Amino acid sequence: MITKIAPSILSADFSAMGETVKKLESAGADLIHCDVMDGSFVGPITFGAQMIKNIRSLTKLPLDVHLMIEHPQTQIKFFAEAGADMITVHYGACAKISPTYLKETLALIRSYGVKCGAVVNPDVPVENIFPYFQECDMILLMSVFPGYGGQKFIPEVLDKIKKARAYAIKIGRPDLDIEVDGGVTTDNAKTIREAGANILVAGSAVLGSPDMKAAIASLKA
Ligand code: DX5
Ligand code: ZN
Repeated sequence: MITKIAPSILSADFSAMGETVKKLESAGADLIHCDVMDGSFVGPITFGAQMIKNIRSLTKLPLDVHLMIEHPQTQIKFFAEAGADMITVHYGACAKISPTYLKETLALIRSYGVKCGAVVNPDVPVENIFPYFQECDMILLMSVFPGYGGQKFIPEVLDKIKKARAYAIKIGRPDLDIEVDGGVTTDNAKTIREAGANILVAGSAVLGSPDMKAAIASLKA
């Protein structure tokens, strides 16, 4: 599968977001990864649907919205209408509400014509979301605990990536997007791709580089 790079704007200077998004597009980014944090599901607060709406007018790249929030169903309409191309929701945020909440949320996202995905934290078995694979356009495996950029990749996640790709193949979805988020660098990107991921989120590895184009190319190489 072709590798796609999704730079995370969490690592950007928020006062210059528009310019950064345009630079990322020229540098060869495939998606723009937008980390939405609510100060409750994770400690920090980042931004909401208004940011997605503003970025939407500046780039043709798909906007990959990663919701790290409680009660995600309450926000789907706003992010879909703001122009999100894909929205991912955390298994953990959904499971604590009800056993059917994740399934309902995925259906709600799709009802807006937006691609949907389920996310698992590093300490949650990927098997927990196997029952949702058929309903997902994308699976997002966290390779750090969510909340902050610049953390170190947790290597145990490699095995989960392999299991996720093997299961996707088993159920007849060999091309299912498997995205990995957290601590992706030019040093570990190849290993992560070989484990079966095809979308790599990269915050500090791209935004922290003096040459974003070279960084993106190197993550794909
Ligand atoms: C963490 C976010 C990540 C983060 C990745 O909660 O979901 O998307 O921005 O940043 P790096 O690539 O620096 O680990
Ligand atoms: Zn993210």
